[in-house]
Amino acid sequence: MKIAIVGTGYVGLVTGACLSEVGINVTCIDVDEKKIENLKKGILPIYEPGLEEIVERNFKKGRLQFSTDLASSIQDAEVAFIAVGTPPGEDGSADLKYVLQVAQGIGESMNDYIVVVTKSTVPVGTAEKVRNQLSSALAERSSDLEFDVASNPEFLKEGAAVDDFMRPDRIVVGVESERSKEIMERLYRPFTLNGHPVIFMDIPSAEMTKYAANAMLATKISFMNDIANLCEIMGADVNAVRTGIGSDPRIGNKFIYPGIGYGGSCFPKDVKALIRTARENGHEMRILQSVEDVNEGQKEVMFAKLKKHFGDLKGKHFAIWGLSFKPQTDDMREAPSVVIINQILAAGGTVSAYDPVAMEEAKHLHLGETIRYAENEYDALKGADALLLVTEWSEFRVPDWKKVKSELSTPVVFDGRNLYNREQLRKDGFTYYGIGVQ
Ligand code: UDX
Repeated sequence: MKIAIVGTGYVGLVTGACLSEVGINVTCIDVDEKKIENLKKGILPIYEPGLEEIVERNFKKGRLQFSTDLASSIQDAEVAFIAVGTPPGEDGSADLKYVLQVAQGIGESMNDYIVVVTKSTVPVGTAEKVRNQLSSALAERSSDLEFDVASNPEFLKEGAAVDDFMRPDRIVVGVESERSKEIMERLYRPFTLNGHPVIFMDIPSAEMTKYAANAMLATKISFMNDIANLCEIMGADVNAVRTGIGSDPRIGNKFIYPGIGYGGSCFPKDVKALIRTARENGHEMRILQSVEDVNEGQKEVMFAKLKKHFGDLKGKHFAIWGLSFKPQTDDMREAPSVVIINQILAAGGTVSAYDPVAMEEAKHLHLGETIRYAENEYDALKGADALLLVTEWSEFRVPDWKKVKSELSTPVVFDGRNLYNREQLRKDGFTYYGIGVQ
């Protein structure tokens, strides 16, 4: 089976690499020549555990190829995935310019029946637009070649993307014909042998499923953050409450961890997009509006705690552990760390930060030279008035607290992820602040 994947960003590259891993002949295409050259040399544009090895292995075997030439790569491909970016346009809605450009390119160069699958997270109704673009491109060359469009939303978690792809909870595919359904079934068979289902449905439902899934998960988090804030006021312990409610299988114990707000490329964007789509169609998503409001507020909770403890932050110095929006990724998009750091800087404080992988990303795209980037987690602590645990990387789990205490100028810990044992820390002479705990 031969397929083409257009767009070598996060979704495209993981999809291409993982499909080649099961023996499918994959060409990954991108307009960015430098990126394609680098990929051929084994240099990846993103950090994702396990991905480099898979890319290298399958590239060597010739099952995974990289190209800037859409026209030749699309020849004889049974499936073309569109996995290019959908950056927010001026009004905040997803800009489909690149998606439709690719559809146009496929229409101009395809030489046989093909299934054109949208893989980028796109608004409900996009597959329809892709179909129209393809039809008009084919009409321009007076071609009567047939094609189908399909929607195959992505549920990968950053930091666990390879594993999620190889062992999916489910694969959702929206199709419009038996012919395309059979091809998609064949494509995904290697991933469903161990019982994980491919759920086929109509195309708009598949497009909506992605948004509904992310909106539900974001809702769980904002709900718990709201409960956590109330716990603090009422003297309850949100960790206990979380365990108490999570043991009910109807609620479940996943995704109910309070923290300093969700970030990343998906939740904030998708929640906003769904609110907007609904509004444009005459419906208010009242719950999601609150989910979004609570999340914005939650990103400021840590700063509020700092202010409460220190009063004036002018001249105060803070150590930050973790910059990426979550562990196991260098992704800084919508990361709470950026909000917290900017608040500290605006209040006249200074910051030393350490992150195992995201410091380059932070320096180049988000924070520049406004903070000091430390050599390691202990170096970040030197002379700081407090430690702020922002991202729960596993290497921050069991620090040498004696060393932490000796490096800090005052032993104060703000734990944004409830990672530490507060009784123990208090016994050891630290002042401890968590989320949703006294
Ligand atoms: C998410 C979805 O999980 C994935 O299915 C979808 O395809 C893309 O969006 P991702 O953005 O990689 O994946 O991150 P995820 O691990 O889901 O975490 C999102 C955010 O929620 C992070 O900021 C994380 O810190 C926060 N979070 C998660 C919490 O605050 N509490 C939790 O209990 C879980």
